[in-house]
Amino acid sequence: MTQWVRIGGVSEMPTDGMAKECNAAGTSICVARIDGKLAALNNECPHHGALLSDGMIEDGRVVCAWHGWSFDPQTGAELRNPLGAATVYPMRVDGDDVLCEV
Ligand code: FES
Repeated sequence: MTQWVRIGGVSEMPTDGMAKECNAAGTSICVARIDGKLAALNNECPHHGALLSDGMIEDGRVVCAWHGWSFDPQTGAELRNPLGAATVYPMRVDGDDVLCEV
């Protein structure tokens, strides 16, 4: 069962081209802002578990800092490995709150 959880205020979200870790009811989330749009992915890289929030944003994708796996922020698809997708979570803004469905 999923639930909408507040992960922070609008002003606490990362600036464009950046990512940060947020907590959603005990789930670590990588929140990235790419081309002005927020996206939320499970923060644990499906390769070997690095924190995606410690990675970088390149060419509109979230790139893991350890071995360079590269994730589409909206679908979670990995660039080269169809079995290596990251989990993505719906997000919405409600007033000054940013919510994530986990
Ligand atoms: S742990 Fe992320 S690419 Fe290896």
